[in-house]
Formats: sequence, structure tokens, C-alpha cells
Amino acid sequence: MILKAIEWFDGKLRILDQSKLPQEQCFVDLLDYREVALAIKEMKVRGAPAIGIAAAYGIALGAQDIKATNKGEFLNQLNRVMQTFAATRPTAVNLFQAINRMKEVAIGDSVPEIKKHLADEAKQIHEEEIEATKRLSQLGAELIKNNFTILTHCNTGTLATAGYGTALGAIKAAKEQGKKINVIATETRPLLQGARLTAWELKQESIPVTLITDSMAGYFMSQGKIDCVIVGADRIAANGDVANKIGTYTLAVLAKENNIPFYVAAPTSTIDLSLTSGDKIPIEERDPREITHIQGVPIAPEGVKAANPAFDITPHSYISSIITEKGIIRKPYGKELIKIAT
Ligand code: MRU
Repeated sequence: MILKAIEWFDGKLRILDQSKLPQEQCFVDLLDYREVALAIKEMKVRGAPAIGIAAAYGIALGAQDIKATNKGEFLNQLNRVMQTFAATRPTAVNLFQAINRMKEVAIGDSVPEIKKHLADEAKQIHEEEIEATKRLSQLGAELIKNNFTILTHCNTGTLATAGYGTALGAIKAAKEQGKKINVIATETRPLLQGARLTAWELKQESIPVTLITDSMAGYFMSQGKIDCVIVGADRIAANGDVANKIGTYTLAVLAKENNIPFYVAAPTSTIDLSLTSGDKIPIEERDPREITHIQGVPIAPEGVKAANPAFDITPHSYISSIITEKGIIRKPYGKELIKIAT
């Protein structure tokens, strides 16, 4: 049984600090909205749906602490809280969808009433994501046949969603359906979400997993050892282009070259119809130290230049299907995405 990645109780937020896994299972109580924003920035909470949920609770926490009783002044201060969250990480659209939903419910006759609306909405966002990830995992599991070996990238399970999972959710659901499956997990440099988190989650679920370095994926595909690839998403543009963890695009090209189906699993909160194509998705650039160091240990000559884009864009033409809680959609994606996301 996986521990709860995010939990709201007694007006405070408890998170499982993902940056310390798998060595330590460390729960942290976040009592101030700034601490929540920092936890998102520092990737103690990470994964697109989990970022949105944590931000929603963080906004509720920030609202709770505003002393102003005058509605205008309260809303001004609330706006600053929301801006702090909007500045944490730019790529996962779930964050911005959650902030917009919180903005929409910041109405009422009195400040205490608005605070209650905000806390209720945060819980609602969390519950909806739990349900959406359960449902899409059930649907995604239908694409996984008995004896399949599935390659996955980054971490897309309970930790990343504070729910059931997306790509990893479909894998877990396939196992629950009684299918015999094997998973190949890429380590996912630079921050090793595959090695540290996916391998950990799969071990907890007793699902056989083999860890490989990112650069081994092509070899395993060319050897006929992979039946399908399933990944998550941080943002899906209106034409079906997908932003996901750096390295996803490489896997999609390799999958096409080797005639392997490439699936993306994501809740509809990850769809951004306001962007016509993937080239408009903002890509987060992180600290180059994440490249020159592994868990604080230097692995490159001091002062060497390093680049660290955290995500890449996979063009829709490489994607066999997109699995959402509202159904599995196939090319051409444009019309189908509008149907399920509006
Ligand atoms: O930088 P991260 O660890 O937040 O990136 C996470 C991913 O890229 C996941 O694949 C994505 O958020 C989907 S999680 C269900």
C-alpha cells in the first residue's frame, strides 16, 4: 500500500517529501503557503496533477492566514498568494487550471465564507483527480495485454498524482485485472524520478520492474523486448502535442522507428485548449547543478556549462493514443480533445 503523497487535515497540508525517497519516507507538515510553494519549486511535491492539488491546498492555506476582514483587501492579498503559486513551475498546466478554479470560487458575502469556498474547492479538486486517475487507469489497462513488457519514463504513480496514477495507474490496474506484466523503468536523469520513485512504487505494488538508464531504451526496443510505451503528460496542446519529462520525445521517436505503440495517459486537467500546438508550451529550465551533480555529488569538471530543460515536446504524430478519464482518443486529436475537455 502506497503512503499518501498529499493530505489535508486540520487546516494544514502534510506531504511526503519526494526529494528524500527512496532512502527516507519523510512526511512534512506545511503550515504556511510559502512553504507549499517552495515544496513545489524544490520538487518535494511533483508530477502534474499533484502540483495542481498542492497549489490548491496551498491557496486555501494562504487564504486562511489572511488577517484582513475587508473583502477588497482580502482579495488583494489572496491574489498575491495565487501569483506566488503561478511562479513556481511553468510547464504543468494542472497548476494553472487549479489556480483558475480557486479564483472562480473566491466569491461570497463575507471573508469567512470565501475562505470556506476555497478550502472546499481544494478538496474538490483533489477528489476529482483521484476519481479521474482511477477511471483513466481502468481504461488504459485495456491496452495492456497479458505478458506485456511496458516501458515507462519518469514517475506517474500515486506520488505524481496524489491519486491512483496515470501511466503507472494503467500498469497497476492491468495487474489488478490479473494480467502478468513486466515494467522497464528509465532512471530519468537528471533527478532520477524513475530510479527513485517509479521503481519504489512498483516494488510496493509487487510489480516486476527492471531499471535501465535513459540511453538504453533504444537497445531494448530494437531487441523486441518492449510491447508498448506508456508515459504521462504535463500539458497537452489542442492539436495533441504533449509536454512531458525530458527524454519523452526521444522515446516516442524510437517507438515509432521500432513499430511499438506509444501511449500518453493523463487526466483532462492536463489538456490546454488555449495553446494550438506544443511549440507554445513553456518549458521549465532548471538549475544546471542538477546536471553537473547527482544528489549533491559533483560528476563534471567544476565550472562546465550545462543545460537543463526539464521537459520536451512530443509531436502528436508520434502518439498512438491519449488515455483520459473520458475515454481513449486517437488521431486526429484536435476534435476529440475539444469534445472531452470542454
Ligand atoms: O518534473 P516532474 O517530476 O514534476 O515531471 C513529472 C512528469 O513529467 C510526469 O511524467 C508528468 O507530470 C505526468 S505525472 C502523472
